[in-house]
Amino acid sequence: MLIRVIYVSTAVGPQTSTMTHSILKKAQAWNKANNITGVLCQGQGVFLQALEGERGVVTKLYSRIYADQRHTNVVLIHCESIAERRFEKWSMAHVSLSDIDPKTKIVWPEFDPYSASGLLVMARIDELLATGTTIQSPDS
Ligand SMILES: Cc1cc2nc3c(=O)[nH]c(=O)nc-3n(C[C@H](O)[C@H](O)[C@H](O)COP(=O)(O)O)c2cc1C
Repeated sequence: MLIRVIYVSTAVGPQTSTMTHSILKKAQAWNKANNITGVLCQGQGVFLQALEGERGVVTKLYSRIYADQRHTNVVLIHCESIAERRFEKWSMAHVSLSDIDPKTKIVWPEFDPYSASGLLVMARIDELLATGTTIQSPDS
């Protein structure tokens, strides 16, 4: 059975490009090998990540991510079983929240994922991906 989970967390220390690179390198390799897809939105001190895959695999990955000391205050905001993946093209897409063009009208500072509903957060992630400017290439 496939599930999708979304969580939000707070970075411990600055979100440097070295940190991003190291997280993404590990995530993209491991996720690809374990049939996990998703997106990591990052910036302004928060991480917002959607993970899709087999229920048992996602659960184990989530608990590993939860324990990662590079972030804290990890809160699960959405969990559902799914018939189809939403992010099937990406082992882990990346959206930098700091780079978003104001013209896209995504007003991130006014959006608090800690208090928004899971469905609203998912809609916002879709919106972020649709801007198309800050994501990595889909897996070939
Ligand atoms: C915000 C964030 C997102 C992460 N996403 C993933 C991911 O999608 N897949 C993955 O394998 N590791 C991800 N990691 C890294 C894991 O937390 C962990 O460091 C990695 O799986 C290695 O675990 P290990 O040291 O127990 O082998 C993420 C870490 C952070 C801080």
